[in-house]
Amino acid sequence: MVRIGLVGVGFMGQQHFGIYEGMEQAEVVAVCDKDPARVAEKAASVGGNIGEATELDLSKQRRYTSLEEMLAQEELDCVDVCTPTFLHAEMSIAALEAGCNVICEKPMALTVEDCDRMIAAAGANSRMLFIAQCIRFWPEYEVLAKMVNNGELGQVISARFVRQSPTPTWASENWLMDAELSGGAMLDLHIHDVDFILSLFGKPKAVVTRAGNLVTEGEPVDQIFTAYLYDDFACAAEGGWVMPDSFPFEMGYQVLGEKGMLDFSLAKEPMLTIYPFDGEPYTPEFEPGTGYERELAYFVECIESNSAPARVTPASARESVRLVLAEVESAASGGAVEVG
Ligand SMILES: NC(=O)c1ccc[n+]([C@@H]2O[C@H](COP(=O)([O-])OP(=O)(O)OC[C@H]3O[C@@H](n4cnc5c(N)ncnc54)[C@H](O)[C@@H]3O)[C@@H](O)[C@H]2O)c1
Repeated sequence: MVRIGLVGVGFMGQQHFGIYEGMEQAEVVAVCDKDPARVAEKAASVGGNIGEATELDLSKQRRYTSLEEMLAQEELDCVDVCTPTFLHAEMSIAALEAGCNVICEKPMALTVEDCDRMIAAAGANSRMLFIAQCIRFWPEYEVLAKMVNNGELGQVISARFVRQSPTPTWASENWLMDAELSGGAMLDLHIHDVDFILSLFGKPKAVVTRAGNLVTEGEPVDQIFTAYLYDDFACAAEGGWVMPDSFPFEMGYQVLGEKGMLDFSLAKEPMLTIYPFDGEPYTPEFEPGTGYERELAYFVECIESNSAPARVTPASARESVRLVLAEVESAASGGAVEVG
């Protein structure tokens, strides 16, 4: 049984908690949040962009308001870091230094330097660090990766990704709206597509980004359009969190290959369709569940079998942060930024 200590019982922490509750191989033995109401025996539910949140029964967990205290008191196999992004590095490092494996929510951190410190702490303490880049485990995106990698879609001609949300006003103390703490929609939301693009197509030569701000002060980070410059196909992603409140959260892609087009959108019915050049459109088979469920199950298995998580290495999650920061630079300068 993998013993988990969960820190940050907000929107994402509650999602993770609910998933562990349904798992046989893992148990959340302790929870921690600086807000005592969030670690009350019956904790209030928190809203978010995907999934239903319900009231939490935390009567079986030991409950803390400080990570330091939880780490000192508990024998944990894994700490699950679901706190705001500006705390990811320091909390992950503290947990690794206390001898725990760590799953940390995306984005890995706000800076490449912090990502490097996290990677170094995992190495120095011989513990596993896994960043919850859930889109790599999202079944509809797994289908795309499979069809590109096994040649079913043929040579890719163009790939376009989209992720659009109303302004997220649900975060504790409104931390998401402070770009210094969250990195804005660039690092918080758009990174999902950046990470997937990198994992599927590798590093582009350069990025050209146009971005704007409507709700956040500072760098243009709210609404993003990026062209990823590859030699042999066109790739772009658009994302942001400036949609009107009435706009339903959207994620999706359209990828055109020599053999057909794969189209995914939360707004379509069916959501996922393959349009072959040769034959009728159809919805392919895909795994049940969400990326959240599948990524947690995957990391629990890695811990049980003591095998490093190859599907999302910390180095690859660091590259996603680095590429997003190159996009921020391109948006600010107006020019192309080479990725190197
Ligand atoms: N994978 C996804 O699709 C997805 C979706 C939403 C959020 N996230 C990520 O999850 C993380 C958390 O986001 P959220 O939406 O759950 O935020 P949230 O504000 O709902 O929850 C954060 C929780 O952390 C607690 N917290 C803050 N400081 C703390 C401290 N010092 N010690 C203990 N607890 C503390 C807060 O009280 C709150 O309960 C972020 O990194 C975010 O990017 C990922």
